[in-house]
Amino acid sequence: MANRANTSTTLLLLFLSPLVCAAQIPHHHAPLFVFGDSLYDGGMTLYIGIKGAAAEFWPYGYTFFRKPAGRYSDGRLIPDFIAEYAGRPFLQPYLLPGLNNYTNGINFASAGACALVETRPNTINIKMQVDYFLDMVPKLKEQVGDEQAKKLLSKAVYLFNIGGNDYVELLNKNLKKPPLSPSKKKNYINLVIGNITTHIKTIYNQGGRKFAFQNLGPIGCMPSLKYMLGFKGACAQEPLELAQQHNAATLALMKRLEKELPGFKYSIYDFYSSLYVRVHHGDKYGFKETKTACCGSGRWHGDFTCQKPGQTFSVCSTPNEHLWFDAAHPTDKANQQFSKEFWSGDINVVAPYNLKTLFEM
Ligand SMILES: *[C@@H]1O[C@H](CO)[C@@H](O)[C@H](O)[C@H]1NC(C)=O
Ligand SMILES: *[C@@H]1O[C@H](CO)[C@@H](O)[C@H](O)[C@H]1NC(C)=O
Repeated sequence: MANRANTSTTLLLLFLSPLVCAAQIPHHHAPLFVFGDSLYDGGMTLYIGIKGAAAEFWPYGYTFFRKPAGRYSDGRLIPDFIAEYAGRPFLQPYLLPGLNNYTNGINFASAGACALVETRPNTINIKMQVDYFLDMVPKLKEQVGDEQAKKLLSKAVYLFNIGGNDYVELLNKNLKKPPLSPSKKKNYINLVIGNITTHIKTIYNQGGRKFAFQNLGPIGCMPSLKYMLGFKGACAQEPLELAQQHNAATLALMKRLEKELPGFKYSIYDFYSSLYVRVHHGDKYGFKETKTACCGSGRWHGDFTCQKPGQTFSVCSTPNEHLWFDAAHPTDKANQQFSKEFWSGDINVVAPYNLKTLFEM
């Protein structure tokens, strides 16, 4: 008797709820919010109105999308695969006209983005991306109501890839000058990490709890950086060391925030090691060419001429044998391998949790 009364009360409450729509969102649904640079840009840069800033011309996108898709690769990027593994459609970029559904998450990442705002003025830097996120929160609340929005924001995974461009610019400004002193490097890393900390805390204050970081790749092996430095070997040491130091600082930051901020959880994917091992032992992973990019010109196709109108560049016929699609970005095939590790890899590649576990928490 009592049971039956309870059931009908519940049904009545559900029926009367003004948020019938929100009730359809599964209890464990975790949106994915993405922040970062061209490694994660899912089309955001198409809308900033600077021709050629986005991956908008042939041969970008051709392997998978059969046309340019605003992604710096021949196909999908890591956030695309992650969305797929989480059972979602590809995330939409925040600047997409007509956007009105935020429950799956949004991609804020944009090509050229830096952690330090003055580094590249014509890009959507990480601060602007977080400002866009703040701008989105009321829209999400409007869509699903305050209570549901609060729940979604705390369930959500906040995925970051940022910093690479800051270090490339640091090295670029120092060309033909004496090597950077250890203290100068340390100060710069502190600024980058300090700014990232501010943005994490901003999102935390909006209810964000689950943060995932792809650590910095071995930028010294990147064709564009080697070309810039005039370096002729496999990987240039100074950029590698900068990335290692940044990655150590990122790990230390995550451990500190875990102690400082109640409920804070993180995941770090060791992109550095995964990319590095593929540069040196590509054959083990199905890559025949791991130093020269598929698209570009100059030594290792390190001159970033890919897609540039009026420039001469060449494009390989077999992107799936290449690690690098252009001078700075992996191919669809490489991104798929990285994504699998990030999603479901063991603690040797992604720790303390993989993304699948982080999503389910
Ligand atoms: C928003 O997206 C979710 C997930 O794809 C979907 O279930 C829901 O129906 C969408 N809502 C609207 C208003 O389109
Ligand atoms: C963020 O970077 C700027 C330089 O762009 C620097 O002046 C500022 O101190 C940094 N913030 C933190 C918290 O480190």
